[in-house]
Amino acid sequence: MSEEMRPIGIALLGAGVVGSAVAKLLTEHHDELADRIGRDFRIVGVGVRDKTKSREHIDPSLITSDVQALAADPAVDVVIELIGGTDDAAVLVADALKSGRSVVTANKALIAREGTALHALAASHDADLYYEAAVAGAIPLLRPLRESFIGDRITKVLGIVNGTTNFILSSMTEHGTTYDTALAQAQALGYAEADPSADVLGLDSAAKATTLARLAFHSEVDSAKVSVQGITSVTAGDIAAAKAMGFVVKLLAVAELTPQDEIVVRVHPSLVPASHPLASVHDAFNAVFINAEAAGEVMFYGRGAGGTPTASAIIGDFVTVARNIVQGSRGHEVVAYRHLQTQTIGAARTRYYVNLQVADQPGVLASIANVFAQRGVSIQVVRQDGAGEDARIVLRTHEALDRDLDATVAALRTLPQVREVLGVMRVEGER
Ligand SMILES: NC(=O)c1ccc[n+]([C@@H]2O[C@H](COP(=O)([O-])OP(=O)(O)OC[C@H]3O[C@@H](n4cnc5c(N)ncnc54)[C@H](OP(=O)(O)O)[C@@H]3O)[C@@H](O)[C@H]2O)c1
Repeated sequence: MSEEMRPIGIALLGAGVVGSAVAKLLTEHHDELADRIGRDFRIVGVGVRDKTKSREHIDPSLITSDVQALAADPAVDVVIELIGGTDDAAVLVADALKSGRSVVTANKALIAREGTALHALAASHDADLYYEAAVAGAIPLLRPLRESFIGDRITKVLGIVNGTTNFILSSMTEHGTTYDTALAQAQALGYAEADPSADVLGLDSAAKATTLARLAFHSEVDSAKVSVQGITSVTAGDIAAAKAMGFVVKLLAVAELTPQDEIVVRVHPSLVPASHPLASVHDAFNAVFINAEAAGEVMFYGRGAGGTPTASAIIGDFVTVARNIVQGSRGHEVVAYRHLQTQTIGAARTRYYVNLQVADQPGVLASIANVFAQRGVSIQVVRQDGAGEDARIVLRTHEALDRDLDATVAALRTLPQVREVLGVMRVEGER
C-alpha cells in the first residue's frame, strides 16, 4: 500500500471515562467514519498507566503503558490525548506536534495554560491542534468561535461551563439542601470527584473561560489576572434570598472586553433572573451565550461532560484532522494575534446584590444610601425586611465598576448601623 493510501493511524492516549468511550465509538462507527473521512483509519495503540486492568471495547493487544513510544510510532498520524493533567500530557502533546503529528485533546488545564504556544508549535510543524471537548464537553463551542464567528467581533462570552457545581447549586435550589449535603450527593452519583476542589473552587471554570477568552478576543490572557471565586461559601440563605427576589444562583464564567478593549475574565457565583434561559440549565448541563457585534446574542446548550458526550466532540475533531490529512491541508490559524491587556475584575462593569443585617433605628437607610452615592453606585431596588434584631435591608444596584461596588461593600462593613453583611453576589443576565 502506498504511504498515501495507508490507513490513518491513531495513538489513543488514555482509556478512562473519555478514552474508553472514544475507543468504543471509533470501533462501532468505523465504516461510517472512514466514509466521511475518505480514507480508512485504525487505532495503532492505546496508552494507559496500568496495563493489567481489563478494558471493554479495546483489543488487549493494543494496550501499552509506554505512551511515549506509542505516540512516536511511525504508523501514528494523529495523537488523541486523554490522560489529563499538565505533566506527561504537556510533553506528549508538544512532542507529537513537533514531529508533525496532529493532536486532538480534551485537556482543559493544558490548553488554558499552553494553548497559544501549542498553536504556534502546530503551525510551525504543519500539524493540526483541536480541543473542542476541553470546554463544555459535547457542545460545539470552540469550532464556532474559531470558524463561524471569525468574521464577527465578539464582546462577551458568558455561561455555565462546569456540570459539577451546576449540579450542586441546582440541588441546593430545588431541595433546599446545604452545600455539604449537595456535594455529598453529587459525589455519590458520580457527578463530583473524590477531590472536588478544581470544580468547587472555580478553577475548572476559570481554565475554560481562559480558553474561551483567547479564542473570542484573539489575544493571550494573563492568567494571574483571572478572577476566580468558587461556590464553597454559597449558603442555603443566599439561595433562599435569591429565590425571594426572583433569582437563582449559578456559577458563571465570564470573558468580556471592556470599552477600552481590555480583557476581563471572571468566575464567580451570580444571581441570574429566574426568567433567564441560564436559570433553567439544570444538573450537569452546560450553556454558554456569545455576544457578537453583528450576530447579536447566540446560545449554546447541551451536555458538558460524561464519557460518550465528550467522545462525540473528540471524534468530530478527529474526523476534521483526518480529512485535512487526506486533503494534504491543515487548519492553520493564528489564535492570539492581538496583544490586549488583561485587567482584573475591578475593571468590569457589574451589578451587585447586597443583603445587610442592620440596626432597627431611624435614618439607617439614608446612611446606607449615602455610602453607595459617595462611590457613584446607584441603587436599583431596595427592600426592608424584619424588625428588631432581625432588621434587614436587601439591595440591588445598577451597573457600576466592580472596584467601586467592592469599595462600597467594604465601607458598609465599617458603618455602625450595619451589624453584618449577610450576603454579596454579582447579578448577571438582567436585560
Ligand atoms: N470525564 C469527563 O466528563 C471529561 C469531560 C471533558 C473533558 N475531560 C478531559 O478528558 C481527559 C480525560 O479525562 P477522563 O475523565 O477520561 O480521565 P480518567 O477517567 O481518569 O482516565 C485517564 C486515563 O489516562 C490514563 N493515564 C493517566 N495518566 C497517565 C500517564 N501518565 N501515562 C499513561 N496513561 C495515563 C489512565 O490510565 P489507567 O486507566 O491505567 O489508570 C486512564 O486510562 C482529561 O483531560 C479531562 O479533563 C473529561
